[in-house]
Amino acid sequence: MTRPLTPEFPAIRMRRNRKSDWARRMVRETRISPDDFIWPIFLIDGENIRQPVPSMPGVERLSVDQAVIAAKEARDLGIPCIAPFPNTPANLRDENGSEALNSDNLICQACREIKDAVPDIGILTDVALDPYTSHGHDGLLDGDTILNDETVEILCRQALNQAKAGADIIAPSDMMDGRIGAIRQALDSESFQSVQIMAYAAKFASCFYGPFRDAVGSEAQLKGDKRTYQMDPGNTDEALREVGLDINEGADMVMVKPGMPYLDILHRVKETYLMPTFAYQVSGEYAMIAAAGQNGWIDQDRAMIESLQSFKRAGADGVLTYFAIAAARMLNDG
Ligand code: PBG
Repeated sequence: MTRPLTPEFPAIRMRRNRKSDWARRMVRETRISPDDFIWPIFLIDGENIRQPVPSMPGVERLSVDQAVIAAKEARDLGIPCIAPFPNTPANLRDENGSEALNSDNLICQACREIKDAVPDIGILTDVALDPYTSHGHDGLLDGDTILNDETVEILCRQALNQAKAGADIIAPSDMMDGRIGAIRQALDSESFQSVQIMAYAAKFASCFYGPFRDAVGSEAQLKGDKRTYQMDPGNTDEALREVGLDINEGADMVMVKPGMPYLDILHRVKETYLMPTFAYQVSGEYAMIAAAGQNGWIDQDRAMIESLQSFKRAGADGVLTYFAIAAARMLNDG
C-alpha cells in the first residue's frame, strides 16, 4: 500500500483535528451504539425478585417476570439482543446436568415469556452444562475427565430444548470438540434451520469468569478448573484454528472471550475470517470497572465507554456486556 507523503511539523499539526468537540466528532473512526450490545442477564427462581450479585455491583438476578420487564427496557433502548443465564436451584443440579433438558427450566420459561411479551428482541441462549451440574463443569464427568462426545450429545438436546422454547441464537460456550456441527445438524433435523449459532469459538480458561460463577451459583461447586477444554491464555494461533473449525461446522457468528485481555485475538480473528465477530466483556472485567468506580478510583462511566470502544476499534461487530443498559442510556442521551 502506498501512503501519501505527509508534510512535517510545523506544516502538520495533529492537534488541529482535536481542537474542539465538534472537530473530534468529525474525525472519529469508530462509534458505539446500542445496536452493538448483547445484554447478559441472570435468572433466578421465584416471582418479583431482584437480587443483587455482590461481586457485580449494579447487576441483579431476576425472576422471569422481572426478566420480561428488563427485556422491554432493553428493546426500548435499542438493544437488539438479550442473553439469559440461569441460577439453577441447588436441588435441581445433578451429575449429568439433566435440568438443562427440562422444557420448563428457567431459560425455557424466560424464552417463552420474553418472546410472548417482547417479540422484537433477539434471545441468545448459552449451551453448556455448568449452571446445571453438581460439579460445576460444562460437560459430563468421568472421574476427573470431561467426556467430549457424550457431552456433545446432551448439548444437542439442550440446544433443541432452547430452540423449541423460542431461542433465536444458540451460543455453545462449552468448548467441546465438534459441537457446532452436531448442534447445527440437530437443529436442522427438527426444522430449526433459521435458528442461528454464535460459537464461543475462542474461549480461554480465564480467572475473569469468577463473578459470573458466583452469579449462577457454580463457583462453590466447581471441582478443579476448566483447562482441559477452555484455551490456554498463552495461545493465539490455536484460537484461529478453533474459530476456523467452528466456521467450517456452520457457525453464523463467532465470539472471543474474555474481552479486553484478548483484543489481539479479536483483531486477528476478524482480519482472518471476516465473520460477524463478537467480544464478551466478561463478569470479571465488569467487576473491576464497577469496583474501581464505586471506590472513586476511576470514572466508571468513562471507563465503560472507553472499554466498549476498544472492542469496536479492535474489529468487533458487537459486544456482550453487563453495561449494556447503562451504556445505551448514556449513548441515547447524547
Ligand atoms: C458457561 C459460561 C461461563 C461464562 C459464560 N458462559 C463461565 C465459564 O465458562 O466458566 C462466563 C461469562 C462471564 O464471566 O461473564 N460455560
